[in-house]
Amino acid sequence: MEVAVIARIVLRVVHAVAAVIWLGGGLYYMLAVRPLRRGSGPQALEVAQRAQEGFRRWSMAATALLVGSGVALMFDRLSDGRGTGGYVALLAVKVVAGGLALWLAWSVRPRRAGRARRARWAFGSGWVILVLGTVAYVLGVLLSVLYPPDSGAGFR
Ligand code: HEM
Repeated sequence: MEVAVIARIVLRVVHAVAAVIWLGGGLYYMLAVRPLRRGSGPQALEVAQRAQEGFRRWSMAATALLVGSGVALMFDRLSDGRGTGGYVALLAVKVVAGGLALWLAWSVRPRRAGRARRARWAFGSGWVILVLGTVAYVLGVLLSVLYPPDSGAGFR
């Protein structure tokens, strides 16, 4: 098998696994961890903060992998010359939704300075981030179903 064929498979698997880690962690945070922060006393707040810290490395790694593999996949798909107008339009919506979700999540991550203001903003934007991430996920799956890539293109 050609190196390029293997690279495409690896990129797609990496992108899909990172997407599950990123979205799954976000959903678990919104449904199970964030409610602990509201009016359940200092102990619950501490548990919530520790849970977030425990997942931080994973979400940072997933973000880096999503962007890295996503950009590579995007150039690969756009350069194979088979991208129709519909494909490019859907891909553009997907990349904007995914990029915005990752950027928003990154910019509301807890930091020492301005914690209160950030926390308030993060509170309002959690579901927005998840909805944007879900749009990117669903469009990613739709794109690969509607426009299946020819993984062996040029190597037969
Ligand atoms: C929250 C962020 C994101 C999520 C949850 C996500 C999720 C997904 C999923 C589930 C797929 C389908 C994988 C497959 O079946 O092969 C996919 C495909 C793809 N994603 Fe993402 N993605 C995100 C961000 C991005 C970003 C930032 C880019 C580009 C810079 C990107 C570019 C792509 C491309 C080019 C494909 C292949 C589409 C095709 O098959 O033609 N994604 N994405």
